[in-house]
Amino acid sequence: MLIINSTKALQKWRLEQDNKTIGFVPTMGYLHDGHMSLIKTAKLQTDLVVVSIFVNPLQFGANEDLDNYPQNLENDISICKSHGVDLIFTPNANEIYSNGYPPKTTVHVELLGDHLCGAKRTGHFDGVCTVVTKLFNLVRPNMAFFGQKDIQQLRIIETIVKELNMPIDIIPCKTQRTHDGLALSSRNSYLSVAEERSALIVPNVLNHLVSLIKKGETDINTLITDGISLIRKTPNAKADYLEIVDYDTLQPVHTINGKIIIATAIFIGSTRLIDNIIWGD
Ligand code: PAJ
Repeated sequence: MLIINSTKALQKWRLEQDNKTIGFVPTMGYLHDGHMSLIKTAKLQTDLVVVSIFVNPLQFGANEDLDNYPQNLENDISICKSHGVDLIFTPNANEIYSNGYPPKTTVHVELLGDHLCGAKRTGHFDGVCTVVTKLFNLVRPNMAFFGQKDIQQLRIIETIVKELNMPIDIIPCKTQRTHDGLALSSRNSYLSVAEERSALIVPNVLNHLVSLIKKGETDINTLITDGISLIRKTPNAKADYLEIVDYDTLQPVHTINGKIIIATAIFIGSTRLIDNIIWGD
């Protein structure tokens, strides 16, 4: 397994692989079984698998956890090795933003970033879109693998690739969870034991709304009010948002109809966790 931290060396390597299909899994490291599921899927579908590990400062707001974001490069390297990854790209911020920071060129997708996390984390998705575009240009993958756990990110990346004519297949991968249902996340490592118990409200509130929808509830206000009161009853939990949006447009729906996303962000203590369920067709 190669470990490369310069863009020049990566581009040189890429030129030498022109007859191979490349699968790409962009990450911010501190790898867990969610990331692993993307890597396993990539291994099955492409000749060579590239994983990037880069905590991208451009997608963090001023009051967010950039400085504390968990890192363990040694462990990430051994996980990647044992899963047959061919190349890890682990640049630093000076390498990725070598023309100056913040960059003069950014990538912005209209509308899809207006709700959910986009409404709460100003500039976050521009940061994600910009770094992913740069990584795509460097790695030039045939396929790139993204988790449905970050559904707004996935839908926005799909839109960039389509609208900017990037020759890359975006492959959505299912959210991996603990046996209790909590979505795996690098940020779960911030939780105390008591907070871990409270964190189950994140999947539970989504499942609760699905059960109401299955019983025939279609009124969005009733659903959201019910969900928010469930979150309020949970110790250490504070809702950042609970929304139901259309799968294609990511705009709020007025009734339950067609393919929708029920999504939430909840602070458990000071840790912000996100999750979602895709519902309907
Ligand atoms: P990161 O949070 O490290 O996630 C990397 C990839 O792993 C994303 O596609 C994410 O959706 C996926 N993932 C995380 N938890 C998952 C889970 N429980 N099940 C399935 N997939 C999961 O997302 C980012 O990094 C960054 O924004 C990035 C795209 C790398 C750009 O900086």
